[in-house]
Amino acid sequence: MERTFLDIVQGRFSARDYLNKPVEREKIERCLEAARLAPSACNSQPWRFIIVDEPQLKNRLCDAIFAGPYSVNSFAKKAPALVVVLSEKGSFMARVGGFLRDTRYYLIDIGIAVEHFVLQATELGLGTCWIGWFNEKALKREMELSRGAKIDVVLSLGYPAGAPPEKSRKSIKEMASFNKSP
Ligand SMILES: Cc1cc2nc3c(=O)[nH]c(=O)nc-3n(C[C@H](O)[C@H](O)[C@H](O)COP(=O)(O)O)c2cc1C
Repeated sequence: MERTFLDIVQGRFSARDYLNKPVEREKIERCLEAARLAPSACNSQPWRFIIVDEPQLKNRLCDAIFAGPYSVNSFAKKAPALVVVLSEKGSFMARVGGFLRDTRYYLIDIGIAVEHFVLQATELGLGTCWIGWFNEKALKREMELSRGAKIDVVLSLGYPAGAPPEKSRKSIKEMASFNKSP
């Protein structure tokens, strides 16, 4: 039976264990296409994706960015690929608007694009985990990125080992209301 969008959303979970099986490039390209089509403030598309799936580089990168206080995320080394998401500051208009509104549209944009990637990955049977806690300086060094580069999130990506756990979420009543403030 055809899976609905909500089935895919329900099937997504933070995968922290992976099978020793590489991810096909066509599947990664499909995830990138889903991310590419994401909306963004002033259409500024303030993201760049670097897929790290060369095993030696990926392992070296994981050792560097999940060392010391970040070792809680060293599970990611089991994933056959890491997705490094470079944040750009967005277009001039998006930055001016963000300044006036006291918000950072580029982070909203990146969140949407990355979740597009993640949900497409879920549809393809892949597992991901958003990772915001990593050594950014070490990442820039290993990937030879400029010092001014900004990386707010990386994803682990691979075939998940194990089933999704129960979801722990607020009820709809707690998180939403119709026609009045919650
Ligand atoms: C921006 C962001 C950063 C996150 N950083 C981490 C992280 O560093 N390590 C980790 O294991 N999970 C991380 N997560 C995953 C969350 O812990 C997880 O999404 C949440 O507990 C809900 O569980 P679920 O994804 O399995 O539904 C992050 C999620 C988001 C959206």
